[in-house]
Amino acid sequence: MTVSRRRFLGWSAAGIGGAALLGAGIDWQLSGPRTLGKTLTSQARLPEPFTLPGTVPAVLAPYRSDQTADYHQVTQRRATATILPGYRTDIWGYNGQFPGPTLAARHGRTAVVTHRNELDVPTVVHVHGGHTPADSDGYPTDYLLPVAGTTAMLARDPQAVIARGQRDHTYPNDQLAATLWYHDHRMDFTGSSVWQGLAGFHLITDEPEQALPLPRGDRDLPLMLCDRAFDARGRLAYPAQDPTFLHTPGVTGDYMQGVQGDVILVNGVPWPRYDVAAARHRLRWLNASNARVYRLRLDTPHRQAPGFVQIGSDGGLLDKPQHLDAIDMAPSERFDTVVDLTGYRPGEQVTIVNDLGDGTTVPVLRLRVTHTVDDTSAVPDRLVDLERLDPAHAVRTREMNFRMGKMTAMDGSTQDKGWLINGKPFDPQRADATARLGDLEIWRITSDFNHPVHVHLNQFQVLSRNGRDPRPTDRGWKDTINLDAGQAAEIAVRFTDYTGRFLLHCHNLEHEDMAMMANLTTTL
Ligand code: C2O
Ligand code: CU
Ligand code: CU
Repeated sequence: MTVSRRRFLGWSAAGIGGAALLGAGIDWQLSGPRTLGKTLTSQARLPEPFTLPGTVPAVLAPYRSDQTADYHQVTQRRATATILPGYRTDIWGYNGQFPGPTLAARHGRTAVVTHRNELDVPTVVHVHGGHTPADSDGYPTDYLLPVAGTTAMLARDPQAVIARGQRDHTYPNDQLAATLWYHDHRMDFTGSSVWQGLAGFHLITDEPEQALPLPRGDRDLPLMLCDRAFDARGRLAYPAQDPTFLHTPGVTGDYMQGVQGDVILVNGVPWPRYDVAAARHRLRWLNASNARVYRLRLDTPHRQAPGFVQIGSDGGLLDKPQHLDAIDMAPSERFDTVVDLTGYRPGEQVTIVNDLGDGTTVPVLRLRVTHTVDDTSAVPDRLVDLERLDPAHAVRTREMNFRMGKMTAMDGSTQDKGWLINGKPFDPQRADATARLGDLEIWRITSDFNHPVHVHLNQFQVLSRNGRDPRPTDRGWKDTINLDAGQAAEIAVRFTDYTGRFLLHCHNLEHEDMAMMANLTTTL
């Protein structure tokens, strides 16, 4: 597959006939009914699962605070990390860390984050799930060029706001308490940048959440799940067309389905073990993988296994908790859960496994109970009041079709497979969906394969799947919905507050980089 020069030239869909034909004639094997991607095999020596201690990323301290805002500085740079015992691995990290430091924000209190780029590639930072003004949202061509300059290819986009060295992002945090995350969003190269470590948590809390007796402190664990693969020298392996990540976007061959690794990392640690008290724990799951879908399940020694109690979804807390035996989690989704270990004896343990994995991708993490405590936490039957978006008030319905198709360079020089929305590859200059602030819309989303569909600016609610009721895991405010192959879903969405150019896209990062994005423009 050739993708060279594609952004200079721009892509166009190969025509309706071509796109339809190609979409039907897929010539590769899907790796499973609910997951799409091709797995790299590590060459390095891998540790035994559950031997390495689990960690939680440190919280970023502001360098200054005033009446209205906290000010943070983050430097994006290369660093060396010990991920696999016995190896040194080069990563790209926010403050040189993978995962990056956690930004902990309070509802309504602005965070201003100055990002400085000391890497040698352009970057773009985006807070995923954030209700963020357009100029701070991290549009893929709003490049932050490296301090030291770069020869990297830049996508042509007259509207792009390009900065060199450093730039401020203003996050109003004017939204419900939620588990958000920030990650790189550079045009054409998001997959490789996130793979190398550019991802971290952005947590928002508010008074209604603080008033709940949920587990807190060291019993509130944000858990970033991602899969990676390592070469014989312990380096992160990624099947990039261009190993410099500067010029030619894309991945090789079948990896365009999505890149998966055979090592499961939790907060950057392979298959960790957390030593914990016999108490309730809040586990905030984030799937930060490029393409892997997980089905998380608790493997416990107790017959009456309590499973997960879900208390929140992508955009915040649920109105009431729900019990889930297993959780399907696609790239970029979050599930906020409580796991009850009260009644466990020291020495007992719970393993969280991935029922969609095989071999090394089945184990995820282990909780080992080391001591008993008095636990006063609880999960109340009612959590928060949630507004229900009423589809009867929708002013329009849009169709969004996510499928593979043929793309042609503008000069006709190359013809390739790519991932299209409504038959078109991403073009920063084309308005795809223009929505008026305050309007309630219904989006009918259809897909050929498994596509985790993500919308910027506002959270949405899932109305139906294939004309039936949504799944239990669709409850609450969502910013990503995972569609299975051949599925149709309806969501209700209402954009608020900020006008400008935003995005909707597939969050399989290789699909995203291979053009599966569209513009969402909001107007007054
Ligand atoms: Cu997780 Cu457009 O982003
Ligand atoms: Cu996002
Ligand atoms: Cu996709």
